[in-house]
Amino acid sequence: MELVQHHSKMIARFLLLMFLCFGRDASSFSTCDKPLDVLFAVDTSGSIDDVQFKHSQKFLRDLVGFFRISNSAARMAVFGFDHLPRFSKASNLDDPTTVSLTGIREQIDDLNFSQGATLIHVGLVEAGNIFNVSTLRPNVPRVVVFLTDGVNYRGSDSLVQPAEYLRTIHNARVISIGIGSEKIVDEEALNIMAGPRMSDQIVLIDFKKKSCGADDDESENDDTTSDEESGNESEDDGCGTKLRAVASLICQ
Ligand SMILES: *[C@@H]1O[C@H](CO)[C@@H](O)[C@H](O)[C@H]1NC(C)=O
Ligand SMILES: *[C@@H]1O[C@H](CO)[C@@H](O)[C@H](O)[C@H]1NC(C)=O
Ligand SMILES: *[C@@H]1O[C@H](CO)[C@@H](O)[C@H](O)[C@H]1NC(C)=O
Repeated sequence: MELVQHHSKMIARFLLLMFLCFGRDASSFSTCDKPLDVLFAVDTSGSIDDVQFKHSQKFLRDLVGFFRISNSAARMAVFGFDHLPRFSKASNLDDPTTVSLTGIREQIDDLNFSQGATLIHVGLVEAGNIFNVSTLRPNVPRVVVFLTDGVNYRGSDSLVQPAEYLRTIHNARVISIGIGSEKIVDEEALNIMAGPRMSDQIVLIDFKKKSCGADDDESENDDTTSDEESGNESEDDGCGTKLRAVASLICQ
């Protein structure tokens, strides 16, 4: 009997510890003050559907709000890709829109759902080109964040070399955000992009799940009260947690 009690106490303690570790990570991240050069490469190909695409844009708009944006802190450029690179106003990190929150959100809004074929290596190569044509600040970490389902027209093997170049020649960390249902997302490709043994640099998001983006009227209402209360999407525990997780991953 005593042994059982002792055991359940241990389990309770363990659970509390788990909660403290993960709870802190997910909920307390607020602002990133670090100098960073960040590129967002957004899959605008036809394999992503328009609901996921629209929510990706909204997610990005919210995400960049976690960063201090300026010439001396984070600079950010956003581009789309399908079988071609799709540049917004900023085709390099010297553009004035990369150093203001308004400017970065304009870049995000400028993305079009172009719906071409998915050639992810185009995105990988273009990210490198952007670093090459930008005036880079010494010792400022470079991060490339891909938002894609990872389903590459030429298979994931064709991503190995360009991803490796981005990480080695351009000295950039690659983060893979897998967009779409678990059934669709190609995790192998996301792994290749982030780098071998970098599964902690991968986040999966399905915007069609109610907790992470889906409009309230799209799903049946059994817990509407708790939803109404929070008001802000970024405060709910689905996407709010993912937002903070991605923001803290970029800020690492
Ligand atoms: C999106 O489409 C508009 C209108 O055709 C165009 O001006 C803009 O450059 C496009 N944006 C991107 C990122 O391709
Ligand atoms: C970009 O710069 C790297 C490193 O300086 C160089 O090896 C590479 O060839 C350049 N790529 C292009 C497309 O200019
Ligand atoms: C939602 O967020 C906005 C901007 O951050 C804030 O002004 C507003 O008070 C928030 N609303 C609620 C219900 O928390």
